[in-house]
Amino acid sequence: MAQSSTADAGRSSAPVAPSEQYNYAIVKKFAIMSIVWGVLGMGVGVYIASQLAFPFLNFDIAQISFGRFRPVHTTLVIFGFGGNALFATSYYVVQRTCQTRLFGSRLAEFTFWGWNLAVFLGAITYMMGFTQGREYAEFTWQIDILITVVWVAYFLVYLMTLLRRTQPHIYVANWFFMAFILATALLHIFNNLAVPVSLFSLESYALFSGVQDAMTQWWYGHNAVGFFLTAAFLGMMYYFVPKQAGRPIYSYRLSIVHFWALVFLYMWVGAHHLHWTALPDWVTTLSATFSILLLLPSWGGMINGVMTLSGAWDKLRTDPIMLFMITSLSFYGMATFEGPMMSLKSVNALSHYTDWTVGHVHSGALGWVAMITFGSLYHLIPRLWDTQLYSIRMVYVHFFLATIGIVLYITAMWVAGIGQGLMLRAFDEFGNLSYTFIETVVFLHQPYVVRALGGGLFLAGMLLMAFNIYKTVMPVYRAQKAAEAQVAGGTEASARA
Ligand code: HEM
Ligand code: HEM
Repeated sequence: MAQSSTADAGRSSAPVAPSEQYNYAIVKKFAIMSIVWGVLGMGVGVYIASQLAFPFLNFDIAQISFGRFRPVHTTLVIFGFGGNALFATSYYVVQRTCQTRLFGSRLAEFTFWGWNLAVFLGAITYMMGFTQGREYAEFTWQIDILITVVWVAYFLVYLMTLLRRTQPHIYVANWFFMAFILATALLHIFNNLAVPVSLFSLESYALFSGVQDAMTQWWYGHNAVGFFLTAAFLGMMYYFVPKQAGRPIYSYRLSIVHFWALVFLYMWVGAHHLHWTALPDWVTTLSATFSILLLLPSWGGMINGVMTLSGAWDKLRTDPIMLFMITSLSFYGMATFEGPMMSLKSVNALSHYTDWTVGHVHSGALGWVAMITFGSLYHLIPRLWDTQLYSIRMVYVHFFLATIGIVLYITAMWVAGIGQGLMLRAFDEFGNLSYTFIETVVFLHQPYVVRALGGGLFLAGMLLMAFNIYKTVMPVYRAQKAAEAQVAGGTEASARA
């Protein structure tokens, strides 16, 4: 096993500026689009959260009703915000760690336009009422084909860049990105096998039906979590945490064990979304067993990330970007402890069909996925534009807004979920249900208001980030920073003389 103690391989000897040596233009585009979709997707998230608390916000307009806006939210945040951040960071990491320029500029450009077109068309068609009705795979069949073509291009760009690396070994972050690309291709194709109603219709029929259909959908659903929302963001973590900490990854060996255990175990756990259904009992028991086992590599990865900071904990006092990264790892640990617990059939009998699941989702999605993305983008963007962040104080404010927002969101969902779950299974002394369903809905109102408030704070942080980044990349600001650096350099030189 080749080993490396730093995330970047040794520097090439040619004195070429990184912005010329590497294709940064494509990374910049994806990074900016991640922020754009982040603002829109979280904006829609706050809106649908408010609709659940105050249903009049549906305004009887079909296009913006909760049912249509919900997949708009999940698509914009997962594929728009998360997807663009993954393209940006994977294209950056593969170039830096392989010390080579990205393969196929035009092909990479195609992945940018194709992917963002798919996200845009997805949102529009859902609002028009067209959906395949498969969670996180709602895209109609034409968009599915577009995504497949984009994904093949992405695979080619990534693989060819790896093949032309000038470094002997492949840094572990690339392993995670590669697993994400391959697994997503497999999942996307099999879960979207469908027969179109006609060539010009947006509608189609899934190839599978009944139990097979449910099984395929949740094999896809959980692996979308495992490979899109986890493995790929771990790739991000394995590069940007050591970089920001200025230290080698705690254990390269552990990262390899983490990788193989994670990719092996995730594929088996989808059926834990289908406990107590028509699926054979042994299938769901098997999925619960693998889910419990998944705790081990997940925590191994979390410990590897957190321990990278050992000996440099003082950085947390002065570096808000590091705060984002360490907090994201803590939430990763929390979500991957909660998930295995929820996969136990007895716990799932309480949690399923309640907001506990939604709380779990967002401790992973906001706490882990969004926080590691914020940290990585704050690290990445000034380097891409060769400048400094416009305001570090704003990064601090963003961090606190996001953290308070998440805590409000998930505690509200625990109260809502566990409360509703207990109400639904309470019986009186005659064996009748103690509460009607509508009584549980009334009970949910207050937690829903708190969730919308928490989401609002999280969104406010996202808006602050967008403003900070906008200021950072503006030519006037960059010219001013460059002039300041020149003056500082001159003063230093004359002081030395
Ligand atoms: C401002 C931040 C956010 C707010 C207020 C918010 C709000 C919501 C709401 C209200 C729902 C619908 C819950 C329901 O059907 O009962 C939802 C679902 C969902 N959101 Fe978010 N969200 C936010 C950010 C995010 C982010 C950043 C991600 C992913 C990276 C994400 C991923 C999801 C997923 C996967 C679901 C579906 C959950 C399930 O089916 O159980 N959300 N969100
Ligand atoms: C060891 C790791 C994990 C395990 C074993 C696990 C397990 C589970 C379980 C049992 C459910 C509830 C299924 C149901 O009752 O329908 C669930 C839902 C979910 N989890 Fe996790 N989880 C893990 C980590 C994560 C992470 C890190 C994220 C986010 C980044 C995440 C995102 C989700 C989503 C989006 C759902 C909701 C799916 C839906 O119903 O729409 N999970 N998970």
